[in-house]
Amino acid sequence: MIQFNPSTLTVLLALFLSSAVADDAKLSSNLVGCNEVSCPKKGADDRCTVGNNTFMGIGLSHLADAPSSLDGFALVKGVNVSAGLGGKNNDKPTRPFKSFYYLGTPPDVDAKDLSGCVVVFHDPPSKKFKGPKLEGKNNGTDTRAASGTCSDVIDKKCITKITDRATKLADEANGDVCETLNREFKKNLPDECEGFAGNGRSFGEFSVKSLGNLTSIPNSTDCWPVKPKSDKLLGIVSSTSLRNYSANALIDEAYKITPILTVFVGKDNSSLVKETSSQMTCLKVVTEENPDDDKDSDKNSAPRMKASGVVGGIAVLVAGIFAVL
Ligand SMILES: *[C@@H]1O[C@H](CO)[C@@H](O)[C@H](O)[C@H]1NC(C)=O
Ligand SMILES: *[C@@H]1O[C@H](CO)[C@@H](O)[C@H](O)[C@H]1NC(C)=O
Ligand SMILES: *[C@@H]1O[C@H](CO)[C@@H](O)[C@H](O)[C@H]1NC(C)=O
Ligand SMILES: *[C@@H]1O[C@H](CO)[C@@H](O)[C@H](O)[C@H]1NC(C)=O
Ligand SMILES: *[C@@H]1O[C@H](CO)[C@@H](O)[C@H](O)[C@H]1NC(C)=O
Ligand SMILES: *[C@@H]1O[C@H](CO)[C@@H](O)[C@H](O)[C@H]1NC(C)=O
Ligand SMILES: *[C@@H]1O[C@H](CO)[C@@H](O)[C@H](O)[C@H]1NC(C)=O
Repeated sequence: MIQFNPSTLTVLLALFLSSAVADDAKLSSNLVGCNEVSCPKKGADDRCTVGNNTFMGIGLSHLADAPSSLDGFALVKGVNVSAGLGGKNNDKPTRPFKSFYYLGTPPDVDAKDLSGCVVVFHDPPSKKFKGPKLEGKNNGTDTRAASGTCSDVIDKKCITKITDRATKLADEANGDVCETLNREFKKNLPDECEGFAGNGRSFGEFSVKSLGNLTSIPNSTDCWPVKPKSDKLLGIVSSTSLRNYSANALIDEAYKITPILTVFVGKDNSSLVKETSSQMTCLKVVTEENPDDDKDSDKNSAPRMKASGVVGGIAVLVAGIFAVL
């Protein structure tokens, strides 16, 4: 019979736990939604409360193509929409869709060390992510569940041009990097960027925010849409657009793709990055139906069972070792 002494047991458990924790930090794909972070569901719908805002769904992605010093950094989007109204103005664009954007950082990152700029492009690219086929319809796609990366919807050459230009401008900027970028993005885009923000070669509507000026969001127990859960969230911006109350408007606006440019400035030895680095990351609310979902909220245990699988595994391992002892 194999003998385990207590220190072997500790080592084994530590190994198992660290692999479980590493696994906990990995996203199952580039852009994920509520299922991945186990939002408490309301009926069959996702619900996620962050700070003072409750969202119908979220999108979470790690920064695309970031240097290793930015490992674990993520961007999060949440969308709030009011309940449908049975009024006579339902066909008019009177329904507010409020989008909120956050930067997720590892727990050991001090917000004071962040330097640079973030630009949120509010008008979605003309191309869309591929989604799963909708059941029952021959060729409909499920826009709510659709997911992907910027390079699926924006020409890679366009992404490179924008990020290279942003890095160059940030390095050359004498004063405020954000002000410089703000000026630049009022200009037209290069040819490769046709359709970047819908039709044509404009950047469309955008918001610019200094990375050094983000607001820290107090933790909540409801839904903390990051992975691992020990990560912090900093508020970037919110924006509101008005659409009508139709189902099409809901799908178009609440599930639109939002490209976000992040520019981390390497200004001295204490900076997070050695040299200035820019990334383009695309966010979108991702809502996946669970096959066994229905209106009965008791039936919404599937994502939770998945989440508790790690805990179950630990219990089994501990039980097994104790049986050997
Ligand atoms: C939430 O609302 C309260 C009261 O309006 C405000 O003091 C607080 O700063 C808000 N919190 C966040 C994270 O926005
Ligand atoms: C949007 O926010 C309002 C006010 O905070 C809240 O009552 C509503 O439930 C939210 N909508 C969704 C879909 O969560
Ligand atoms: C959907 O299917 C119909 C009938 O097969 C076809 O005529 C139509 O072009 C298809 N639409 C798309 C967007 O593929
Ligand atoms: C930070 O935000 C405050 C209030 O919005 C503003 O007055 C200040 O100029 C900003 N600072 C920087 C460095 O952007
Ligand atoms: C936030 O709260 C969740 C749930 O209580 C917890 O697991 C997580 O560690 C907390 N994160 C931070 C940064 O405090
Ligand atoms: C409502 O909005 C949708 C999508 O934006 C649009 O296609 C539709 O024409 C609008 N309906 C009315 C009655 O204006
Ligand atoms: C940065 O580090 C280098 C080498 O370690 C040192 O020579 C230089 O003085 C430092 N610069 C600052 C601004 O601290």
